[in-house]
Amino acid sequence: MNQPLEYIFPNPPEGLDPRELHIEGIPEHVAVIMDGNGRWAKKRALNRLKGHKAGIEAVRETIRCASDLGVRYLTLYSFSTENWKRPEEEVVGLMDLFAKTMLAEVDALHAEGVRVRTIGDLSILPEETRAAFDKAWEKTRENEGMTLIVAINYGSRQEMLHAAQCLMRHAVLQAEETGEVPQATEELFERGLYTAGIPDPDLLIRTSGEMRISNFLLWQIAYSEIVVTDVLWPDFDRYEFLRALLEFQGRDRRFGAVA
Ligand code: IPE
Ligand code: IPE
Ligand code: MG
Repeated sequence: MNQPLEYIFPNPPEGLDPRELHIEGIPEHVAVIMDGNGRWAKKRALNRLKGHKAGIEAVRETIRCASDLGVRYLTLYSFSTENWKRPEEEVVGLMDLFAKTMLAEVDALHAEGVRVRTIGDLSILPEETRAAFDKAWEKTRENEGMTLIVAINYGSRQEMLHAAQCLMRHAVLQAEETGEVPQATEELFERGLYTAGIPDPDLLIRTSGEMRISNFLLWQIAYSEIVVTDVLWPDFDRYEFLRALLEFQGRDRRFGAVA
């Protein structure tokens, strides 16, 4: 842990006690499906983009809290390969918001020792959005604090196809060299995933009550604990994060074995 619990959670709501958190049981990797921005805006008769903007504060707070608690990897699902189906105004607004937010936050993240990287196919993003993430990676790549992984134009099926293609290329090269087709192994397949080298998420949080995965990290969440909260993403804060962590710590992870 990088900060004391009283500092991280100064004003817990009634009935929520940060001291119940076991520091030794903080998950190494937390992944979040940040959902509900649109509904948050609709409830207030606002444009959907206002909901996405309001979600930035929740992003900031979650990153800070996870980093302070000593989480090593935080993956945030920001834009899926299916989100291009949304109205153009929303897509353009989101891409602009990603670029501006990244540029505005990179110095603070760097000062905290956070390493910023992405997963997904960035090649088709608008130039400014791609450049903002490239800049953040260049600036923070040597940092040794928490790794923040922004999933953008990310789709798990696309990622697994990419891994299968890498595996096929590897097999062809090996066959040409040795005359034998190598065995496909989990290790070889994982080398072609965007998340190669990153441990699987221990905890997957989804906000806004939806009980689905929406094409996120299908391979990697094989044994993740899943916590779904009804809270809409812009209302998510450090105390909601704490609730999810406490629920995680109450789970019995068996990985298929006997307890
Ligand atoms: C999640 O909020 C943000 C993105 C997918 C970019 P939504 O925009 O999906 O919000 P709802 O689900 O419509 O409420
Ligand atoms: C998942 O949310 C994608 C992100 C949070 C970026 P969606 O709102 O796109 O998912 P569905 O459409 O409800 O499954
Ligand atoms: Mg949604």
